Amino acid sequence: MAAKVTLSTLQSLKARQQPAVFVTAYDYPTATFAERGGVDMILVGDSAAMTMMGLPNTLGITMDEMIVFVRAVCRAAKRAFVVGDLPFMSYQPSDETAVLNAGRFIAAGCDAVKCEGGVRVAGRVKAMVDAGIAVMGHLGLTPQNLGQLGGYKVQGKTKAAADKLVDDAIALQEAGVFGILLEAMPPEAAAYVRERLDVLVYGIGAGPHVDGQLVISHDILGTFVGDIAPKFVKQYARLGGDIERVFKAYSDDVRAGHFPAPEHCYPVDPSVFGALSAPSDTATPAQTPLELDRVSYVPAAASAAR
Ligand code: KIV
Repeated sequence: MAAKVTLSTLQSLKARQQPAVFVTAYDYPTATFAERGGVDMILVGDSAAMTMMGLPNTLGITMDEMIVFVRAVCRAAKRAFVVGDLPFMSYQPSDETAVLNAGRFIAAGCDAVKCEGGVRVAGRVKAMVDAGIAVMGHLGLTPQNLGQLGGYKVQGKTKAAADKLVDDAIALQEAGVFGILLEAMPPEAAAYVRERLDVLVYGIGAGPHVDGQLVISHDILGTFVGDIAPKFVKQYARLGGDIERVFKAYSDDVRAGHFPAPEHCYPVDPSVFGALSAPSDTATPAQTPLELDRVSYVPAAASAAR
């Protein structure tokens, strides 16, 4: 197994000008496939509110819900560097809240935590860093203050806006973040910010001039259920359609009596059970050849190996 990605691995990727590959994941299978696919970093994003729970934005997910996703991903991620995304109101109220909630993510297996905002959260960031926790900042389109931003809008489009991003980024750097994620801004704005920082800079929808690229796994897999389709998304598959086709095929098979077929049924030992005949109400064209008895067969099969 390849060595665990650490902060020094991420620094050496930057030194070699090799972009870090960064995806979101929220569950054990996706994190396993992402690992096998060779990603360097996984964000257990509060986007789980939308991708996994069908909420309209990220504001409604709780710490307890995030912990379930974090635990599943950390169990899968043997190599990737895992960042737990602090949800709305898990760090805003006080330094103590921030440290306690960030600590829950680290205790659950995360390598670092992420929070949104610049100057105004710098104190919270410092408190978490002082508690020994690696923190990633998040600037640009920060969905936890969507109301203030006025919706999903591209950020950093003017010189003044880019300068504000730099001020926020420097406040985060001084507070001790190891890296900053920039979301939804022109490549020039991201480059402008990165040139003025020493810490790692990652981007989602922020162009190529950053130290690594983040995408939402549902976006690249084609499994997002919803209307938001950002310009920066490249869809590599349409797995949502494939999944729907599988459920439709299964439904058709069950209704037509084509599933289960003989090869999906456990055999009985005739010396123990004798000659059994299938009850007439469960007999289907597929089941008839096995002549199963529902009462004696089902409990034995339930305890057998899958
Ligand atoms: O929650 C998340 O996935 C994120 C990204 C959109 C940056 O914060």
